[in-house]
Amino acid sequence: MKLEDIYQPIADDLREVDELLRSTLSESQNAAVSAMGVELMESPGKRMRPALVFLSERAACGGKPPGPKGPAASPLRDALRRRPQANWRGGEANMSDRRELVEAAAAMELIHIASLIHDDVLDEASVRHNKPTVNNRYGGDISIVLGDYVYSMAFQLIGRKGRGEIFSCVSEAIHAMCEGELIHVCQRRNLDLSERNYIVIAEKKTGSLFAASCLAGAIIGNQPKPIQTAMKEFGMNLGVAFQIVDDCKDVVGEAAELGKEPGQDVLAGDITLPLLALSDSVGQAEREEIKKMLGSPGPKGPWRGDRGGLQRLKTMLVESDALSRTRQIVASYASGAKKRLDGFEDSAYKESLTLLVDYVTQNNF
Ligand code: IPE
Ligand code: MG
Ligand code: MG
Repeated sequence: MKLEDIYQPIADDLREVDELLRSTLSESQNAAVSAMGVELMESPGKRMRPALVFLSERAACGGKPPGPKGPAASPLRDALRRRPQANWRGGEANMSDRRELVEAAAAMELIHIASLIHDDVLDEASVRHNKPTVNNRYGGDISIVLGDYVYSMAFQLIGRKGRGEIFSCVSEAIHAMCEGELIHVCQRRNLDLSERNYIVIAEKKTGSLFAASCLAGAIIGNQPKPIQTAMKEFGMNLGVAFQIVDDCKDVVGEAAELGKEPGQDVLAGDITLPLLALSDSVGQAEREEIKKMLGSPGPKGPWRGDRGGLQRLKTMLVESDALSRTRQIVASYASGAKKRLDGFEDSAYKESLTLLVDYVTQNNF
């Protein structure tokens, strides 16, 4: 299944988001700044977060409420049933504010872009989305301020409608995301990190923005709290699954498929779930070998692992049961995400959300 097919029900919306991103990123009167903004549009990502804003709003608003003889009561079904008529899509008073959705969706993507500009400095990554990273092209100084500049644009967009709930949703997600990245960096080379603490990092650094995107869709769709919560939890589960798959691909993926150099996490010493699973399943000698591959902190800054070790790590992973154990955890987050959609009426949008879970989690690794 191609992403383009999954996004088909919201293709027009995503085009509008891209237009807004293009105009926002190139708005500076300063030619050098606007040129950098334009360059960011030349290497687009998967636009997953904007897609989640629209799909969540539509899936929450787009079907028919279960009738009085509908399925067994649950807080979500109950909320769907009691939802005021005025919330239904198609009614006069109920239409979500489309411009607000487009602006929120664009803001989520800008936050994601900003976080990656900074992340590529942390991970010393030279390629992303098949293009040189900002860090590679312009260095760390520009990356820091360009990242900040892009974050500020997201807040400008969010501020236009001035809905407090959306502002909280976005600022809480950024707060969690930055904290997650910070904890992850502080935990570099710590193979004793617990699986639970790895999951906390994944929830914060990736799950939070996925969750916020889904929550924003439900908020702008004027949905009641239980529906907002179901969508938020859907996004969190999907985001964690996404991060774990991404972490596996860092070791076993190929550059052509990833659009980035494999091994960035390992070389930077970042601890990921497949590494923890591997470390758990091998003896002391191999554990020491893995530690060496992760590089070491030194008096003049960290010494990064080398590419030679990466191939060995890949072999160890493939020969162990670490990947299959990691796949099981991904599957549990995938089913956790799908479970959150259970109460929603069938619609093309709900179908796309389900397919997105499969797209993210069923890719080979
Ligand atoms: C990306 O983290 C940054 C955030 C999630 C905030 P990673 O370092 O794990 O992701 P990639 O591999 O560079 O895309
Ligand atoms: Mg990173
Ligand atoms: Mg990275």
